[in-house]
Amino acid sequence: MTKEEQYNSLLLQAQGLLSGEADIISNMANLAALLHEGMGFWWTGFYRVQGDELLLGPFQGPIACTRIAYGRGVCGTAWKEQHTIVVPDVEKFPGHIACSAASRSEIVVPIWHNNKIIAVLDIDSKEIGTFDEVDKEYLEKMASLIIGPQKDIWFAAGCFWGAQKFFKLVEGVEFTEVGFCNGNLDNPTYQEVYTDTTGHAECVHVRYNPSVVSLRHLTELFFKIIDPLSLNKQGEDVGTRYRTGVYYDNQKDAEELASVFSQIRQSLGVESFPVELLPLKCFFPADEYHQDYLDKNPSGYCHLSPAIFKLAAE
Ligand code: SME
Repeated sequence: MTKEEQYNSLLLQAQGLLSGEADIISNMANLAALLHEGMGFWWTGFYRVQGDELLLGPFQGPIACTRIAYGRGVCGTAWKEQHTIVVPDVEKFPGHIACSAASRSEIVVPIWHNNKIIAVLDIDSKEIGTFDEVDKEYLEKMASLIIGPQKDIWFAAGCFWGAQKFFKLVEGVEFTEVGFCNGNLDNPTYQEVYTDTTGHAECVHVRYNPSVVSLRHLTELFFKIIDPLSLNKQGEDVGTRYRTGVYYDNQKDAEELASVFSQIRQSLGVESFPVELLPLKCFFPADEYHQDYLDKNPSGYCHLSPAIFKLAAE
């Protein structure tokens, strides 16, 4: 069996094993065991980011150093430099930390969650030059599985300040970001979108764990914070940039959303309404000033009533 074939088989097993579980430590434990057994490595495990150091997590193999400072050793360097490091010969890596004298080569893969590195996968071999681009490619794929299932959806609900605050309160929502979607200009500024000529809608990108909250529930909540019969106007905000819509990135979601839309139209007793249901064509995050705006400015403008935020937590 080639290395690719071995990894392909392990990747399938890892997907099956980890896709239904959201607990990161359990997923680290199982992935370490799967890789260690399946590939015959010398040491296979995780270090978790805790403040300004890495703390030993689930692993297979001999006992290891417990804490590694930011920027120290291969692990701390991969965290600092934010990319995978392949070390063909540990003796030639300045600052390598030798937890075990038997280790001769090493690979460290940083793991991202919501735009931050939360851990590294560290693997050691007793041979020189064990790891290459193939290991890098497969281990990056497998390491990303430990954060559990994640899905994305984009909601345009009028002014994005209130919509972001609302969706952040929903259990199962892991990450939100406000921005501009489905317009005709790349990387538009707020001022450009404000002219109402770029075609973008103000929108919130919502990343969620589908084993905690469903797309249906999120979409039903979305309909509670908009007036679905109002064209290009939500609260006092008027313009095409304040149109309402749900934008998806896969066909399965399109079908689920179509069913929610039809149910809402029925409950409103209308055959059509101006809420868009379209594939996401593009999304550009707004600048930092607009991110989490109402957390930073609690008395800032919001077209949503204070009472509506209670619905998010129900
Ligand atoms: N060699 C690592 C330390 C961890 S052990 O390999 C398990 C490093 O230099 O960061």
